[in-house]
Amino acid sequence: MANPASSPLRPGAVIGILGGGQLGRMTAIAAAHLGYRSHVFCPDADAPATHVTSRATIAPYEDEAALAAFAAAVDVVTIEFENIPLTAAQFLAARVPFHPDPAILSICQNRLREKEFCGKIGVPTTRYTSVTDAASLAAAVADMGSPCVLKTAEMGYDGKGQVAIAADTDLGAAWAGMAQAATGAGAILERYVDFRLEVSVIVARGSDGARQTFVPVENQHKHHILDQTIVPARAPAKALDKAEGIARHMAAEIGLVGLLAIEMFVTGDGEVLVNELAPRPHNSGHWTLDACVTSQFEQLVRAIAGLPLGSTEPLADAVMKNLVGDDVASASTHLNDPRAKLHLYGKTEARPGRKMGHVTRINPKY
Ligand SMILES: Nc1ncnc2c1ncn2[C@@H]1O[C@H](COP(=O)(O)OP(=O)(O)O)[C@@H](O)[C@H]1O
Ligand SMILES: [Mg+2]
Repeated sequence: MANPASSPLRPGAVIGILGGGQLGRMTAIAAAHLGYRSHVFCPDADAPATHVTSRATIAPYEDEAALAAFAAAVDVVTIEFENIPLTAAQFLAARVPFHPDPAILSICQNRLREKEFCGKIGVPTTRYTSVTDAASLAAAVADMGSPCVLKTAEMGYDGKGQVAIAADTDLGAAWAGMAQAATGAGAILERYVDFRLEVSVIVARGSDGARQTFVPVENQHKHHILDQTIVPARAPAKALDKAEGIARHMAAEIGLVGLLAIEMFVTGDGEVLVNELAPRPHNSGHWTLDACVTSQFEQLVRAIAGLPLGSTEPLADAVMKNLVGDDVASASTHLNDPRAKLHLYGKTEARPGRKMGHVTRINPKY
């Protein structure tokens, strides 16, 4: 059900952003375009989002005095990183409008809760089960059959905390490998999906219940990290319609105000299975900065500020490539392509696997 629309934030109001990474940085830039100020809260002094905001609180997410002062200094809070402690989100939500709701974060922080939620609202996923130790892993693999994928239930990203399981995998070692990344929240065993391609859909929903989806895009991963996003996705129209329908349905059912990114597998026979949710801007939506009427970051700001949502019509076909680790060394060569739009996140240290920037090649339709 739609909530009553709240009155829009006035120009000059302050948007609080939990998390200091590139997603927060690009959200703050979008907020500035609409006349808002941003105040970032994050633990790292040199975080990318702090470079573009005049206000930042550098403190641990557990620091209640800092959280209380932050709540008093902002008009609304959003997140750029869903793995902030839930207690911090709840603490803030009791003091200041907070979108998306902490209950949504709680679902998206845990792969088991995500898939249970999908099941509850009739959205298909791969077969899965909860595992809590090496013995329950062995029983689950015997029941499910291989291949399958073991993942830590919480705090996994970019393939961290995941182990592929084949018929001859040593399950004791697999459990130990996963447990290194686990946080004590247990694990999920998923049936391996022999997918044709991976797609994602980002959906925005305002406090009045209005929804807008960005077109489904195709995601290609390298070493479990997003490498390229191809716009639009090269999948049958029927599957893409299904993916968009799932996104719209999920946004309403989860009670979203803000953005929800949904990663999905499209199988050879056109089935669409939800893999993962992120209640925030998503790497696969960076192309919208350069090739869409409204960017995902502007859309987030509009949704949480009580403004009408913008059009999500694409202006061009596009391919977004992440610049990961050492890729950034040759970033300037992309500038030789006049249709390449380079975005660097201001990170000084190019550690392996670290997202340093991205480049979007656009192919305007006219
Ligand atoms: N059940 C699965 N079947 C096939 N491939 C999978 C499965 N789960 C994950 N993968 C592959 O691993 C990638 C990363 O997994 P994901 O669940 O998205 O975790 P994260 O992105 O948080 O690391 C996916 O994009 C996909 O390529
Ligand atoms: Mg993923």
